[in-house]
Amino acid sequence: MEEDETDFSEEEEQPQLDSMSLRMTAANALIRRRRTIKPADLDVKPVENLHLATILENANWAPTHGKTEPWRFFVFSGAGRQRLADFMQSLYKKIIPEDEQRPDKIEKLGTVPLLAPVVIAIGMKRQEIEKIPEIEELEAVACAVQNMHLTASALGMAGFWSSPPIVYSDEMREWIGLKDPRDKCLGLFYLGWPREDLEWPEGSRGDIVDKVTFINE
Ligand SMILES: Cc1cc2nc3c(=O)[nH]c(=O)nc-3n(C[C@H](O)[C@H](O)[C@H](O)COP(=O)(O)O)c2cc1C
Repeated sequence: MEEDETDFSEEEEQPQLDSMSLRMTAANALIRRRRTIKPADLDVKPVENLHLATILENANWAPTHGKTEPWRFFVFSGAGRQRLADFMQSLYKKIIPEDEQRPDKIEKLGTVPLLAPVVIAIGMKRQEIEKIPEIEELEAVACAVQNMHLTASALGMAGFWSSPPIVYSDEMREWIGLKDPRDKCLGLFYLGWPREDLEWPEGSRGDIVDKVTFINE
C-alpha cells in the first residue's frame, strides 16, 4: 500500500493501549492509597460545596439490587456538628450502663465531631415491600460509602467510617431522621482535609492468595 496519510490505524491503537494503562494506574493508586484518616489528623480547612456534592453524587452511583438505592445521608456541618456531639454524648449516657461508662469515651463523643468540617451519618432505608433481602441493602450502602471514600481520596481529602456501638440504636436511627424501625444507621463518615504535615499512612493487607479459592474442574 502506498503511503496514505489518511491511514491512522497504527497510531489509533497506541493511544487506546495508553489510555487503558493510564486508567489502570489511576484506579490501582486510588484504591490502594485510600486510607482511613481520623479526625485528629484533619486540618481546619472547610469542605467546599462542590467537593461535597461530587462525593455524594458518586455515592449515589453505587450498585443496588432492584434499584432500591437504600443509602441515605445526613450531612452535619457548622453548628450541626455540635448538635450531633451533644446527642452522641447523651445517647451514650442513656444506653451504656452507668458502671460501664468511660469518661474518656464521653469526652471523645462530645469533641470528635467538631474536629471534622463535615460528618455524614450513614443510613439504610428499608424497601417498603421488603423484596430485596436486608443484607443486600446493607451491602449496597457499604458500596456507596466506599464510593464516597474513594472520591474523597481522589480529591486529596480524608475520610473515616466510624461505627461506635451506639450508632446502631433505635434512638440514633430516629434522631438522624429514619423513622421506620426497619431502617438502620450504619455509622458516621468523617470528612475533611488531612493536615498538611500528615504523613500519609501506609496500608497493609494480608495476602490475597489466602482469601481466594479457584475452582476450575
Ligand atoms: C463498616 C466499617 C466500620 C468501621 N468502623 C470503625 C470504627 O468504629 N473505628 C475505627 O477505628 N475504624 C473503623 N473502620 C475503619 C477501619 O478501621 C479501617 O478501614 C481499617 O483499619 C483499614 O484501614 P484503611 O481504611 O486505611 O485501609 C470501619 C470500617 C468499616 C468498613
